[in-house]
Amino acid sequence: MAFISIQDALQRGSGKVAIRGWIYRERGSNEFKFIVLRDSTDIIQCVFKKEQFDAQQWEELDKALIESSMEIEGTLHEDKRAPTGYELRATSFNVVQRAEKYPITKDQSPEFLLDIRHLWIRSRKLAAVMKVRHTVMQAFREFYVKNGYLEWAPPILTPNACEGGATLFEVKYYKEKLYLTQSWQLYAEAAIFALEKIFCISPCFRAERSKTSRHLSEFWMAEMESAWMKLDDLAKSAEECVAYIIEQVVKRNAKELEILGQDISKLKKITIPFPRITYTEALELLKKKEKIDISWGKDLRTIEEDLIMKHFDKPVIVTNYPKEIMAFYKPQDPKNPKTALCFDMLAPEGYGEIIGGSQRDIDIEELKKALKKEGEKIEKYDWYLDTRRYGSVPHAGYGLGIERVVAWLCKLDNIKDAIPFPRTMLRFRP
Ligand code: 4AD
Ligand code: MG
Repeated sequence: MAFISIQDALQRGSGKVAIRGWIYRERGSNEFKFIVLRDSTDIIQCVFKKEQFDAQQWEELDKALIESSMEIEGTLHEDKRAPTGYELRATSFNVVQRAEKYPITKDQSPEFLLDIRHLWIRSRKLAAVMKVRHTVMQAFREFYVKNGYLEWAPPILTPNACEGGATLFEVKYYKEKLYLTQSWQLYAEAAIFALEKIFCISPCFRAERSKTSRHLSEFWMAEMESAWMKLDDLAKSAEECVAYIIEQVVKRNAKELEILGQDISKLKKITIPFPRITYTEALELLKKKEKIDISWGKDLRTIEEDLIMKHFDKPVIVTNYPKEIMAFYKPQDPKNPKTALCFDMLAPEGYGEIIGGSQRDIDIEELKKALKKEGEKIEKYDWYLDTRRYGSVPHAGYGLGIERVVAWLCKLDNIKDAIPFPRTMLRFRP
Protein backbone atom coordinates (compact mmCIF):
# COMPACT_ATOMS: atom_id res chain seq x y z
CA MET A 1 0.00 0.00 0.00
CA ALA A 2 1.19 3.55 -0.73
CA PHE A 3 1.94 5.61 2.36
CA ILE A 4 -0.04 8.76 2.99
CA SER A 5 0.64 11.56 5.46
CA ILE A 6 -1.05 11.54 8.84
CA GLN A 7 -2.80 14.78 7.90
CA ASP A 8 -4.26 13.10 4.81
CA ALA A 9 -5.26 10.06 6.87
CA LEU A 10 -7.08 12.30 9.37
CA GLN A 11 -8.88 14.00 6.51
CA ARG A 12 -9.94 10.67 5.04
CA GLY A 13 -11.25 9.53 8.42
CA SER A 14 -12.18 5.98 7.42
CA GLY A 15 -10.95 3.02 5.40
CA LYS A 16 -7.61 1.29 5.15
CA VAL A 17 -4.42 3.35 5.07
CA ALA A 18 -0.66 3.01 5.49
CA ILE A 19 1.26 5.68 7.37
CA ARG A 20 4.81 6.08 8.63
CA GLY A 21 6.58 8.23 11.16
CA TRP A 22 7.99 8.27 14.68
CA ILE A 23 6.57 7.20 18.03
CA TYR A 24 5.46 10.30 19.87
CA ARG A 25 3.87 8.57 22.88
CA GLU A 26 3.43 4.93 23.79
CA ARG A 27 1.73 2.95 26.50
CA GLY A 28 0.64 -0.63 26.78
CA SER A 29 -1.47 -3.10 28.70
CA ASN A 30 -1.82 -6.86 28.59
CA GLU A 31 -4.18 -6.71 25.69
CA PHE A 32 -3.41 -3.47 23.87
CA LYS A 33 -0.58 -1.23 22.85
CA PHE A 34 -1.30 2.42 22.12
CA ILE A 35 1.14 4.34 19.99
CA VAL A 36 0.71 7.97 19.04
CA LEU A 37 2.59 8.27 15.79
CA ARG A 38 3.82 11.58 14.43
CA ASP A 39 5.06 12.63 11.04
CA SER A 40 5.82 16.09 9.71
CA THR A 41 2.12 16.82 9.30
CA ASP A 42 0.32 15.71 12.49
CA ILE A 43 -0.12 12.97 15.10
CA ILE A 44 -2.55 10.05 15.28
CA GLN A 45 -3.31 7.41 17.86
CA CYS A 46 -2.69 3.84 16.67
CA VAL A 47 -4.02 0.89 18.61
CA PHE A 48 -2.65 -2.65 18.42
CA LYS A 49 -4.65 -5.61 19.73
CA LYS A 50 -2.42 -8.34 21.12
CA GLU A 51 -4.48 -11.23 19.78
CA GLN A 52 -3.90 -10.04 16.21
CA PHE A 53 -0.12 -10.44 16.35
CA ASP A 54 2.15 -13.40 16.98
CA ALA A 55 4.40 -13.55 20.04
CA GLN A 56 7.53 -12.31 18.28
CA GLN A 57 5.73 -9.36 16.67
CA TRP A 58 4.13 -8.45 19.98
CA GLU A 59 7.48 -8.43 21.72
CA GLU A 60 8.96 -6.20 19.05
CA LEU A 61 6.08 -3.80 19.43
CA ASP A 62 6.18 -3.92 23.18
CA LYS A 63 9.87 -2.94 23.17
CA ALA A 64 9.48 -0.08 20.71
CA LEU A 65 10.32 3.12 22.57
CA ILE A 66 9.61 6.78 21.87
CA GLU A 67 11.11 8.06 18.58
CA SER A 68 11.37 4.58 17.05
CA SER A 69 10.57 4.88 13.35
CA MET A 70 7.61 2.80 12.16
CA GLU A 71 5.38 1.94 9.25
CA ILE A 72 1.80 1.04 10.19
CA GLU A 73 -1.13 -0.18 8.17
CA GLY A 74 -4.68 -0.29 9.53
CA THR A 75 -8.21 1.04 9.38
CA LEU A 76 -9.35 4.50 10.48
CA HIS A 77 -12.13 5.09 12.98
CA GLU A 78 -13.49 8.24 14.51
CA ASP A 79 -12.70 8.39 18.24
CA LYS A 80 -13.42 11.52 20.26
CA ARG A 81 -10.99 10.48 23.00
CA ALA A 82 -8.02 10.18 20.64
CA PRO A 83 -5.72 13.25 20.56
CA THR A 84 -6.61 14.17 16.97
CA GLY A 85 -10.12 12.67 16.90
CA TYR A 86 -9.32 9.49 14.97
CA GLU A 87 -7.74 6.17 15.74
CA LEU A 88 -5.89 3.81 13.45
CA ARG A 89 -6.60 0.17 14.31
CA ALA A 90 -3.41 -1.50 13.19
CA THR A 91 -3.43 -4.66 11.12
CA SER A 92 0.29 -4.80 10.38
CA PHE A 93 3.42 -2.84 11.18
CA ASN A 94 7.14 -2.63 10.65
CA VAL A 95 9.59 -1.13 13.13
CA VAL A 96 12.12 0.54 10.81
CA GLN A 97 14.52 1.38 13.65
CA ARG A 98 14.10 0.65 17.32
CA ALA A 99 15.17 3.82 19.12
CA GLU A 100 17.37 3.83 22.19
CA LYS A 101 15.89 5.39 25.32
CA TYR A 102 15.12 8.96 24.25
CA PRO A 103 16.96 11.53 26.38
CA ILE A 104 14.14 14.06 26.31
CA THR A 105 11.44 13.52 28.89
CA LYS A 106 8.93 15.92 30.40
CA ASP A 107 9.85 19.17 32.17
CA GLN A 108 13.40 19.67 31.08
CA SER A 109 15.32 22.90 31.48
CA PRO A 110 15.64 25.27 28.53
CA GLU A 111 19.44 24.89 28.68
CA PHE A 112 19.21 21.10 28.40
CA LEU A 113 16.84 21.43 25.46
CA LEU A 114 19.34 23.77 23.79
CA ASP A 115 22.17 21.28 24.39
CA ILE A 116 20.09 18.62 22.72
CA ARG A 117 18.63 20.88 20.06
CA HIS A 118 19.30 18.38 17.25
CA LEU A 119 16.65 16.16 18.88
CA TRP A 120 14.44 18.90 20.34
CA ILE A 121 13.72 20.28 16.85
CA ARG A 122 11.46 17.23 16.45
CA SER A 123 9.14 18.57 19.15
CA ARG A 124 5.68 19.71 18.13
CA LYS A 125 6.49 23.19 19.42
CA LEU A 126 9.64 23.71 17.39
CA ALA A 127 8.15 22.02 14.33
CA ALA A 128 5.21 24.45 14.57
CA VAL A 129 7.60 27.41 14.85
CA MET A 130 9.59 26.22 11.83
CA LYS A 131 6.40 25.99 9.78
CA VAL A 132 5.41 29.53 10.71
CA ARG A 133 8.96 30.66 9.90
CA HIS A 134 8.62 29.09 6.46
CA THR A 135 5.42 31.07 5.85
CA VAL A 136 7.00 34.33 7.06
CA MET A 137 9.91 33.98 4.62
CA GLN A 138 7.67 32.79 1.82
CA ALA A 139 5.20 35.65 2.32
CA PHE A 140 7.95 38.29 2.33
CA ARG A 141 9.23 36.86 -0.94
CA GLU A 142 5.73 36.67 -2.46
CA PHE A 143 4.93 40.23 -1.46
CA TYR A 144 7.97 41.73 -3.15
CA VAL A 145 7.84 39.50 -6.22
CA LYS A 146 4.20 40.58 -6.70
CA ASN A 147 5.32 44.19 -6.43
CA GLY A 148 7.88 43.80 -9.20
CA TYR A 149 11.02 43.35 -7.10
CA LEU A 150 13.84 40.97 -8.06
CA GLU A 151 15.52 38.64 -5.59
CA TRP A 152 19.17 39.58 -5.46
CA ALA A 153 21.98 37.84 -3.57
CA PRO A 154 24.48 39.90 -1.57
CA PRO A 155 27.96 38.77 -0.52
CA ILE A 156 28.30 37.40 3.01
CA LEU A 157 32.02 38.12 3.37
CA THR A 158 32.64 41.84 3.27
CA PRO A 159 35.41 44.37 3.91
CA ASN A 160 32.98 46.98 5.32
CA ALA A 161 30.84 47.72 8.35
CA CYS A 162 27.27 48.69 7.60
CA GLU A 163 25.96 48.95 11.14
CA GLY A 164 29.03 50.13 13.05
CA GLY A 165 32.31 48.42 13.90
CA ALA A 166 31.37 47.27 17.40
CA THR A 167 29.42 44.17 16.35
CA LEU A 168 31.58 42.95 13.46
CA PHE A 169 32.68 39.32 13.30
CA GLU A 170 36.16 39.04 11.84
CA VAL A 171 37.03 36.26 9.45
CA LYS A 172 40.52 35.24 8.47
CA TYR A 173 40.46 35.44 4.71
CA TYR A 174 43.67 34.01 3.23
CA LYS A 175 46.16 36.69 4.27
CA GLU A 176 43.49 39.34 4.76
CA LYS A 177 40.84 40.14 7.33
CA LEU A 178 37.19 40.33 6.31
CA TYR A 179 33.89 40.48 8.19
CA LEU A 180 30.67 38.52 8.14
CA THR A 181 27.91 40.73 6.77
CA GLN A 182 25.71 42.75 9.14
CA SER A 183 23.29 43.71 6.37
CA TRP A 184 23.16 43.57 2.58
CA GLN A 185 22.52 47.26 2.39
CA LEU A 186 25.72 48.75 0.94
CA TYR A 187 25.67 46.21 -1.88
CA ALA A 188 21.94 46.62 -2.42
CA GLU A 189 22.50 50.35 -2.85
CA ALA A 190 24.94 49.56 -5.65
CA ALA A 191 22.56 47.09 -7.30
CA ILE A 192 19.50 49.37 -7.52
CA PHE A 193 21.25 51.26 -10.33
CA ALA A 194 20.90 48.12 -12.42
CA LEU A 195 17.64 46.62 -11.12
CA GLU A 196 15.85 49.46 -9.27
CA LYS A 197 13.70 47.25 -7.02
CA ILE A 198 15.32 44.34 -5.23
CA PHE A 199 14.99 42.17 -2.12
CA CYS A 200 16.81 39.36 -0.36
CA ILE A 201 16.47 36.99 2.58
CA SER A 202 19.88 36.26 3.94
CA PRO A 203 21.82 35.42 7.09
CA CYS A 204 23.37 38.34 8.97
CA PHE A 205 25.91 38.31 11.75
CA ARG A 206 26.47 40.55 14.71
CA ALA A 207 28.72 40.05 17.68
CA GLU A 208 26.08 41.11 20.19
CA ARG A 209 27.65 41.15 23.60
CA SER A 210 24.46 41.74 25.52
CA LYS A 211 22.41 38.77 26.62
CA THR A 212 18.83 39.60 25.73
CA SER A 213 15.85 37.59 24.61
CA ARG A 214 15.91 39.56 21.33
CA HIS A 215 19.46 39.27 20.03
CA LEU A 216 21.16 36.50 18.11
CA SER A 217 24.71 36.49 16.75
CA GLU A 218 23.48 34.82 13.57
CA PHE A 219 20.05 35.85 12.35
CA TRP A 220 18.17 36.15 9.09
CA MET A 221 17.17 39.47 7.64
CA ALA A 222 14.65 40.08 4.88
CA GLU A 223 15.66 43.29 3.16
CA MET A 224 14.38 45.43 0.31
CA GLU A 225 15.86 48.42 -1.47
CA SER A 226 14.26 50.63 -4.06
CA ALA A 227 15.43 53.42 -6.32
CA TRP A 228 13.32 56.61 -6.44
CA MET A 229 11.74 55.86 -3.07
CA LYS A 230 11.27 58.18 -0.11
CA LEU A 231 10.53 57.58 3.56
CA ASP A 232 6.73 57.75 3.33
CA ASP A 233 6.48 55.13 0.61
CA LEU A 234 9.12 53.02 2.30
CA ALA A 235 7.14 52.88 5.55
CA LYS A 236 3.99 52.10 3.56
CA SER A 237 5.72 49.23 1.78
CA ALA A 238 6.91 47.88 5.14
CA GLU A 239 3.48 47.98 6.76
CA GLU A 240 1.80 46.41 3.74
CA CYS A 241 4.38 43.65 3.74
CA VAL A 242 3.98 42.95 7.47
CA ALA A 243 0.18 42.91 7.08
CA TYR A 244 0.55 40.43 4.20
CA ILE A 245 2.85 38.21 6.28
CA ILE A 246 0.32 38.14 9.13
CA GLU A 247 -2.55 37.42 6.74
CA GLN A 248 -0.67 34.47 5.26
CA VAL A 249 0.41 33.06 8.64
CA VAL A 250 -3.20 33.23 9.87
CA LYS A 251 -4.37 31.55 6.67
CA ARG A 252 -1.75 28.82 6.42
CA ASN A 253 -0.71 28.16 10.03
CA ALA A 254 -3.88 28.10 12.11
CA LYS A 255 -2.97 24.65 13.45
CA GLU A 256 0.56 25.72 14.38
CA LEU A 257 -0.65 28.91 16.08
CA GLU A 258 -2.99 26.79 18.16
CA ILE A 259 -0.17 24.43 19.18
CA LEU A 260 1.83 27.51 20.18
CA GLY A 261 -1.02 29.01 22.20
CA GLN A 262 -1.28 32.08 19.97
CA ASP A 263 -4.62 33.86 19.70
CA ILE A 264 -5.54 34.01 16.00
CA SER A 265 -8.36 36.52 16.45
CA LYS A 266 -5.85 38.96 17.93
CA LEU A 267 -3.60 38.63 14.87
CA LYS A 268 -6.58 39.06 12.54
CA LYS A 269 -7.24 42.49 14.04
CA ILE A 270 -3.84 43.75 12.91
CA THR A 271 -4.75 45.70 9.80
CA ILE A 272 -3.14 48.63 8.03
CA PRO A 273 -2.52 51.48 8.40
CA PHE A 274 -0.29 51.10 11.45
CA PRO A 275 0.04 54.11 13.74
CA ARG A 276 2.92 56.44 12.89
CA ILE A 277 4.61 58.60 15.47
CA THR A 278 7.90 60.47 15.54
CA TYR A 279 10.68 59.75 18.00
CA THR A 280 9.87 63.09 19.63
CA GLU A 281 6.21 62.08 20.03
CA ALA A 282 7.35 58.76 21.49
CA LEU A 283 9.28 60.67 24.16
CA GLU A 284 6.21 62.79 24.87
CA LEU A 285 4.09 59.67 25.24
CA LEU A 286 6.63 58.21 27.68
CA LYS A 287 6.60 61.39 29.69
CA LYS A 288 2.83 61.84 29.77
CA LYS A 289 1.65 58.25 30.17
CA GLU A 290 4.59 56.54 31.82
CA LYS A 291 6.09 59.44 33.78
CA ILE A 292 9.47 58.71 32.27
CA ASP A 293 11.70 61.54 31.17
CA ILE A 294 14.14 60.58 28.42
CA SER A 295 16.38 63.39 27.29
CA TRP A 296 16.03 64.16 23.59
CA GLY A 297 18.85 62.58 21.60
CA LYS A 298 19.11 59.32 23.53
CA ASP A 299 18.28 56.10 21.70
CA LEU A 300 15.22 54.20 22.85
CA ARG A 301 16.16 51.14 24.85
CA THR A 302 14.27 47.89 25.05
CA ILE A 303 12.40 48.92 28.19
CA GLU A 304 11.31 52.21 26.67
CA GLU A 305 10.15 50.50 23.47
CA ASP A 306 8.10 48.12 25.60
CA LEU A 307 6.54 50.97 27.58
CA ILE A 308 5.58 52.74 24.35
CA MET A 309 4.04 49.55 22.97
CA LYS A 310 1.86 49.11 26.07
CA HIS A 311 -0.36 51.73 24.44
CA PHE A 312 -0.81 49.98 21.09
CA ASP A 313 -2.10 46.62 19.92
CA LYS A 314 -0.70 46.96 16.39
CA PRO A 315 2.87 47.50 15.25
CA VAL A 316 3.91 51.15 15.39
CA ILE A 317 6.14 53.02 12.95
CA VAL A 318 8.46 55.40 14.77
CA THR A 319 10.12 57.92 12.45
CA ASN A 320 12.70 60.70 12.74
CA TYR A 321 15.17 59.45 15.31
CA PRO A 322 17.97 61.87 16.21
CA LYS A 323 20.41 62.12 13.30
CA GLU A 324 23.39 62.15 15.70
CA ILE A 325 22.85 58.58 16.93
CA MET A 326 21.94 57.02 13.58
CA ALA A 327 24.07 54.95 11.19
CA PHE A 328 26.16 57.00 8.73
CA TYR A 329 23.87 56.44 5.73
CA LYS A 330 20.70 57.91 7.28
CA PRO A 331 20.11 61.42 5.88
CA GLN A 332 19.08 64.54 7.71
CA ASP A 333 15.41 65.46 7.38
CA PRO A 334 15.43 68.96 5.83
CA LYS A 335 12.14 69.74 7.61
CA ASN A 336 13.57 68.76 10.97
CA PRO A 337 17.36 68.91 10.66
CA LYS A 338 18.15 67.37 14.04
CA THR A 339 16.41 64.16 12.92
CA ALA A 340 16.99 61.57 10.22
CA LEU A 341 14.68 60.28 7.47
CA CYS A 342 14.38 56.87 9.04
CA PHE A 343 11.94 54.60 10.84
CA ASP A 344 11.77 51.58 13.10
CA MET A 345 8.74 49.35 13.28
CA LEU A 346 8.02 48.16 16.81
CA ALA A 347 5.92 45.06 17.46
CA PRO A 348 3.30 44.91 20.21
CA GLU A 349 3.51 42.82 23.40
CA GLY A 350 7.14 43.47 24.13
CA TYR A 351 8.67 41.99 20.96
CA GLY A 352 10.50 45.21 20.20
CA GLU A 353 11.96 46.43 16.94
CA ILE A 354 11.12 44.17 14.03
CA ILE A 355 12.17 46.50 11.21
CA GLY A 356 14.78 49.21 10.73
CA GLY A 357 14.85 51.27 7.56
CA SER A 358 15.60 54.64 6.05
CA GLN A 359 16.01 56.85 3.08
CA ARG A 360 19.70 56.85 2.11
CA ASP A 361 21.92 59.92 2.26
CA ILE A 362 22.90 60.92 -1.27
CA ASP A 363 25.15 63.79 -0.25
CA ILE A 364 28.66 62.45 -0.63
CA GLU A 365 30.25 65.03 1.71
CA GLU A 366 27.73 64.29 4.46
CA LEU A 367 28.43 60.58 4.07
CA LYS A 368 32.18 61.12 4.39
CA LYS A 369 31.67 63.26 7.46
CA ALA A 370 29.44 60.64 9.10
CA LEU A 371 31.83 57.79 8.26
CA LYS A 372 34.73 59.71 9.76
CA LYS A 373 32.69 60.30 12.90
CA GLU A 374 32.13 56.54 13.16
CA GLY A 375 35.90 56.09 13.00
CA GLU A 376 35.87 54.49 9.55
CA LYS A 377 38.56 54.88 6.90
CA ILE A 378 36.96 56.69 3.95
CA GLU A 379 39.16 54.82 1.43
CA LYS A 380 37.55 51.55 2.43
CA TYR A 381 34.16 52.95 1.41
CA ASP A 382 35.30 54.55 -1.82
CA TRP A 383 33.58 51.87 -3.90
CA TYR A 384 30.31 52.62 -2.05
CA LEU A 385 30.71 56.36 -2.57
CA ASP A 386 30.85 55.68 -6.33
CA THR A 387 27.12 55.00 -6.07
CA ARG A 388 26.77 58.73 -5.30
CA ARG A 389 29.11 59.78 -8.13
CA TYR A 390 27.43 58.16 -11.12
CA GLY A 391 23.76 58.94 -11.52
CA SER A 392 22.82 59.08 -7.86
CA VAL A 393 19.06 58.99 -7.17
CA PRO A 394 16.93 59.13 -4.03
CA HIS A 395 16.50 55.62 -2.71
CA ALA A 396 15.43 53.79 0.42
CA GLY A 397 15.22 50.37 2.00
CA TYR A 398 14.59 48.43 5.16
CA GLY A 399 15.51 45.19 6.92
CA LEU A 400 13.06 42.94 8.76
CA GLY A 401 14.40 40.57 11.40
CA ILE A 402 12.91 37.18 10.54
CA GLU A 403 13.39 35.77 14.06
CA ARG A 404 11.91 38.87 15.69
CA VAL A 405 8.77 38.51 13.57
CA VAL A 406 8.58 34.76 14.13
CA ALA A 407 9.04 35.18 17.90
CA TRP A 408 6.22 37.72 17.95
CA LEU A 409 3.78 35.78 15.77
CA CYS A 410 4.51 32.51 17.63
CA LYS A 411 4.36 34.19 21.05
CA LEU A 412 7.81 32.87 22.01
CA ASP A 413 9.53 33.78 25.27
CA ASN A 414 12.93 33.89 23.65
CA ILE A 415 14.18 34.62 20.14
CA LYS A 416 16.36 31.50 20.35
CA ASP A 417 13.30 29.37 19.62
CA ALA A 418 12.64 31.25 16.39
CA ILE A 419 15.70 29.73 14.68
CA PRO A 420 16.51 25.99 14.56
CA PHE A 421 20.10 26.21 15.82
CA PRO A 422 20.58 29.50 17.69
CA ARG A 423 23.94 31.23 18.01
CA THR A 424 24.50 33.71 20.80
CA MET A 425 27.61 34.75 22.71
CA LEU A 426 27.24 31.71 24.98
CA ARG A 427 25.43 29.28 22.70
CA PHE A 428 27.08 27.92 19.54
CA ARG A 429 26.60 24.12 19.74
CA PRO A 430 25.32 21.79 18.38
O1 4AD B 1 17.92 48.02 12.41
P1 4AD B 1 18.99 47.22 11.73
O2 4AD B 1 20.32 47.21 12.33
O3 4AD B 1 19.02 47.77 10.24
C1 4AD B 1 19.93 47.42 9.28
O4 4AD B 1 20.78 46.56 9.37
C2 4AD B 1 19.70 48.09 7.95
N1 4AD B 1 20.98 48.11 7.22
C3 4AD B 1 18.62 47.35 7.21
C4 4AD B 1 18.29 47.98 5.89
O5 4AD B 1 17.92 49.13 5.88
N2 4AD B 1 18.42 47.22 4.82
O6 4AD B 1 18.48 45.72 11.59
C5 4AD B 1 17.27 45.42 10.92
C6 4AD B 1 16.45 44.44 11.73
C7 4AD B 1 16.10 44.91 13.13
O7 4AD B 1 14.97 45.73 13.13
C8 4AD B 1 15.86 43.60 13.84
O8 4AD B 1 14.55 43.14 13.55
C9 4AD B 1 16.85 42.67 13.18
O9 4AD B 1 17.19 43.24 11.94
N3 4AD B 1 18.05 42.49 13.99
C10 4AD B 1 18.31 41.41 14.75
N4 4AD B 1 17.61 40.29 14.98
C11 4AD B 1 18.13 39.37 15.80
N5 4AD B 1 19.33 39.49 16.41
C12 4AD B 1 20.08 40.60 16.20
N6 4AD B 1 21.27 40.70 16.79
C13 4AD B 1 19.57 41.63 15.35
N7 4AD B 1 20.03 42.82 14.93
C14 4AD B 1 19.10 43.33 14.11
MG1 MG C 1 17.75 49.07 14.20
